[in-house]
Amino acid sequence: MGNDTFYVTTPIYYVNDKPHIGHAYTTILADVLARFHRLLGTPTHFLTGTDEHGQKVQRAATENGITPQEQCDRTVVRFQELWRKLEITHDDFIRTTEERHRRVVRGILKDLYQRGEIYASNYEGWYCVPCERFFTEKDLIEAKCPECKRSVEKLVERNYFFRMTQHQQWLIDYIEAHPEFIQPPHRRQETLGFLRKPLGDLCISRPKTRLNWGIELPFDSAYVTYVWFDALVNYISGVGYPDDKATFGKWWPATYHLIGKDILTTHTVYWPIMLKACGVELPRTVFAHGWWLVGKDKMSKSVGNVVNPMDMVEKCGVDAFRYFLMAEMTLGQDASFTEQAFTVRYNSDLANDLGNLASRVLKMVKRDLGGKIPPVPQTGEDEKELMELTLGAVARVQESLGTMQIDRGIADTLAAVRAANRYFEKMAPWKLAKSDDQAGLSRVLYCGAESLRIVSGLLYPVMPGKMSELRRALGLDDTEITPRLADLAQWGKLKPGQCTGDIESLFPRIVETKPVATMDTIVEPASPAKAPAAKPPRTPVSAKPTNLTKVAGTDQIGIETFSTVKLRTARITAAEPVKGSHKLVRLQVHLGTEDRQIVAGLLPHYRPEELVGKTVVVVANLEPARLLGIESNGMLLAAKTGEHLRLLTVDGALPPGSEVS
Ligand code: ME8
Ligand code: MG
Repeated sequence: MGNDTFYVTTPIYYVNDKPHIGHAYTTILADVLARFHRLLGTPTHFLTGTDEHGQKVQRAATENGITPQEQCDRTVVRFQELWRKLEITHDDFIRTTEERHRRVVRGILKDLYQRGEIYASNYEGWYCVPCERFFTEKDLIEAKCPECKRSVEKLVERNYFFRMTQHQQWLIDYIEAHPEFIQPPHRRQETLGFLRKPLGDLCISRPKTRLNWGIELPFDSAYVTYVWFDALVNYISGVGYPDDKATFGKWWPATYHLIGKDILTTHTVYWPIMLKACGVELPRTVFAHGWWLVGKDKMSKSVGNVVNPMDMVEKCGVDAFRYFLMAEMTLGQDASFTEQAFTVRYNSDLANDLGNLASRVLKMVKRDLGGKIPPVPQTGEDEKELMELTLGAVARVQESLGTMQIDRGIADTLAAVRAANRYFEKMAPWKLAKSDDQAGLSRVLYCGAESLRIVSGLLYPVMPGKMSELRRALGLDDTEITPRLADLAQWGKLKPGQCTGDIESLFPRIVETKPVATMDTIVEPASPAKAPAAKPPRTPVSAKPTNLTKVAGTDQIGIETFSTVKLRTARITAAEPVKGSHKLVRLQVHLGTEDRQIVAGLLPHYRPEELVGKTVVVVANLEPARLLGIESNGMLLAAKTGEHLRLLTVDGALPPGSEVS
């Protein structure tokens, strides 16, 4: 228990809809932690699953015209399929509709009821359907849900309550005495702040007349259990509580409950009190990470900016996607997802730094050393420096695990990669290869390969697929592909004589695809201070790519990739030349439900008055750009041969805003 085993959980996700990037994030984080602890040799248990009862799921089922169970069965496979794609190595997947879970929830309810911890009373309050939570009048903010700011419904009914009031002081004392219990520290403060207000008892039942999709109360068949009182129990029902004492004793208390900041109160107030009432130890740490935003915005279905992790994997590969999520978010803070940020980080960290080191080392070992790892060399000052930096990264990665600073550990690893590239530049083995300094050449290539052995091991939990490939190419045998942290902490373990292999470009550079119509227009520099006036930037309109293409491999794309480009018909309602430009025209277009302004380089090809009234095709989900200071929201499609350009239009009458696919 405690330090010699590692038990990590994710929230169990609602099955009202398919998974998005936020679900993928928490699960990848748990996977990276689990994989790291396995490398350390710590017995590890990783539990994830789905939260299948409650109003949200019942409502989704009704909307889809299916039963709640069908809703669950159909959606759970989307999560399971995604976890397979993302190479998630959970040890167990729990569904709250499983009997192994329902039985435990009923047992706990029965016990608490018999001991008077649960009682019946009348309830009057405000209910938020999306959050599935009751609020008192004074909890509300401007008559809306204090959590999600949506409308709430007034309800008066007889219900069952869990006595929480009596636990308030004990919980405050516990949190104060155990700084590790709620992490990071600002979330701990948030919970303590919440506990400054008097804690009411928790309504844990729902009358079946209102909601019947849940676990029936063992002492009153007219009610089902409140979904949170059911869901939280998964963390213990999933490891054998209460009957399988050996399993439960092995894993509990959990090392980490990983959650998003949205579900802090349920995990740091309700859950510890439930456990205390059952006489069960509390988890060691509840860690609440921040929010993935899309650009600066909250992800939301109504805005239509929800990032589908399946699409991202399709486009950029599972390893690069995992890497970006882990490297980009500082745990505890919010992070921003854009394809541009992805491309920038991918190209710099993976294609340039790591990919470049791997390709140089492996190519030269093959060409100049007959594809065999050279003897362990005598080392000089430069080698010592590289070794110290690399081993320093190993130590810091290990440290970052304990402090949950995964992004720092990754940054330290990449710093070691860059140090190896610098070492290469300085030693210039390509020159040594042409001289007769064979010992010098061997030394540099050995150190390059050794550095790759270590960094590939450190990055293995984040990018298991690509790092396995790299380790195999270094000639490591099957037992060494999965690294052991102890082996990474030693320099000089790469065995001389080992045969290296070929590796196709590990991380092919991503290039931006060019837009069709307005290629030769000029984009205003994003930051005028950085762009020298003497060198006008001639960038395509879509300075920020909306689509990614790989240089290597085929130029084919999957239908998934294509379908990320939202094309719509639009009617041009106004057109005027942009002052000071020979090319640009400012268009107002109507897309059915909305009007937009688009700036396009059409003047050499159309007179403005010719354009008005035309139904054209626009890329509707292109990031806005500024052209000569004028905002442009979208792009028109056109065909072009040499200097001749014609706009794409629709063959027949269709309302503006129609989908083009
Ligand atoms: O709350 N950024 O399930 P849920 C980062 N069933 N993480 C995000 C995110 C975002 N934008 N959006 C969601 C539930 N998440 C309950 C949990 S546990 C006993 C019951 C992640 O499907 C984050 O981990 O709404 C968040 O806590 C979780 O998904 C919520 O998933
Ligand atoms: Mg939610």
